[in-house]
Amino acid sequence: MSAPLLTADQQQRLLAAARAMLDKAYAPFSHFQVGAAVLTQRGGVYSGCNVENSSYGLTICAERSAVFAAVGAEGPGMKIRAIAVCALQQGEDQAASPCGACRQVIFEFGSQALVLFQGPAGPQQVSICDLLPGGFRL
Ligand code: THU
Repeated sequence: MSAPLLTADQQQRLLAAARAMLDKAYAPFSHFQVGAAVLTQRGGVYSGCNVENSSYGLTICAERSAVFAAVGAEGPGMKIRAIAVCALQQGEDQAASPCGACRQVIFEFGSQALVLFQGPAGPQQVSICDLLPGGFRL
């Protein structure tokens, strides 16, 4: 059974937490700032931003920063209820759904997690199962 959608108020608060991280992003190479915020099943909210590196492959996305902050705060039993993502480039809001690596990391901590992001045609709220069919499990 799929998880219930977030209320409008929950959505607004989670998106605001993601948006508040945009000016923390370290993105001197792409100038693409990303903020993310996780709502856990316990009700905690943890946020993160992208952190780039001169050695490009070491860059970490905002979504994984937020998920790892949530695990650091709540421990290995942390479960994701929802995650919001937003992006900005040269002062303009950008459409951005989580990359493949972040989808797999989100799936690890909540196979029913809801993902809120700006799609090309407006805001979207979709299940991680729809974004990552057949996610890997060990
Ligand atoms: N980025 C994220 O933070 N999340 C994603 O899901 C995709 C990409 C970041 C990585 C890099 O700093 C910048 O966006 C451009 O790829």
